[in-house]
Amino acid sequence: MKKIHLIITRQDSPDSPPYEEEFMVDYRPNMNIISTLMEIRHHPFNKNGVQSSPVLWDMNCLEEVCGACSMLINGVPRQACSTLVDQLDHPIRLDPMSTFPVVRDLILDRERMFDALEQVRAWIPIDGTYDIRPGPRMNENTRQMAYELSKCFTCGVCLEACPNVNVKSNFLGPFVFPQVRLKNAHPTGEMNKRERIGAFMDDGGLQGCGNSQNCVQVCPKGIPITTSIAAVNREATLQSFRNFFGAD
Ligand code: SF4
Ligand code: FES
Repeated sequence: MKKIHLIITRQDSPDSPPYEEEFMVDYRPNMNIISTLMEIRHHPFNKNGVQSSPVLWDMNCLEEVCGACSMLINGVPRQACSTLVDQLDHPIRLDPMSTFPVVRDLILDRERMFDALEQVRAWIPIDGTYDIRPGPRMNENTRQMAYELSKCFTCGVCLEACPNVNVKSNFLGPFVFPQVRLKNAHPTGEMNKRERIGAFMDDGGLQGCGNSQNCVQVCPKGIPITTSIAAVNREATLQSFRNFFGAD
């Protein structure tokens, strides 16, 4: 039977050293990376026939919606659920993305992304404690743009591809730009635009982007990250003038 050769970087705990282990998995047509990992889970014997522990990974939706299964597949950051074995060079290398702390094997801690969204106040404060009514309708062009931006599923792939996201920098990552733009474009979210842009002008925000444009090439949802960076930069420049001249 045809076999799939997998070389996987494993790590037993957040503090233990990484090591490689190889597996041979029975091939079936139309397998994705998750199904190869499931095969290892059912039959955890490595390439040398020695029993090992099952490789651990994260997943929820299995349809490229939750972002939990992001990993490096043959060196490219992408989702394991939507990557088909038939479209890859062999042997297949699986590594955890380097931008995030490893919890175990291919499971990552993506908390830095949620902390970043909190830092730039990427939410619309509708908490029911006061009556803000439905608000104005969004015009159709803005709605279409907002829909594209809302597809971000915090998968972390753009952080992995960005040379400015590294241990020496506190750059929050490319994904925050579209989210700030999205919340600022909302008729209700616009109320907190100044506060949101202000938070983004702090450390780790706008200054961190080096314009390498890797992010837009790897984003699985085709989110217009670079045009969002330009849009947020423009808003920040206007905000600086307003702050300087004391205008609203
Ligand atoms: S912007 Fe794209 S690549 Fe970055 S986290 Fe969102 S969906 Fe993933
Ligand atoms: S399992 Fe949700 S994106 Fe892959």
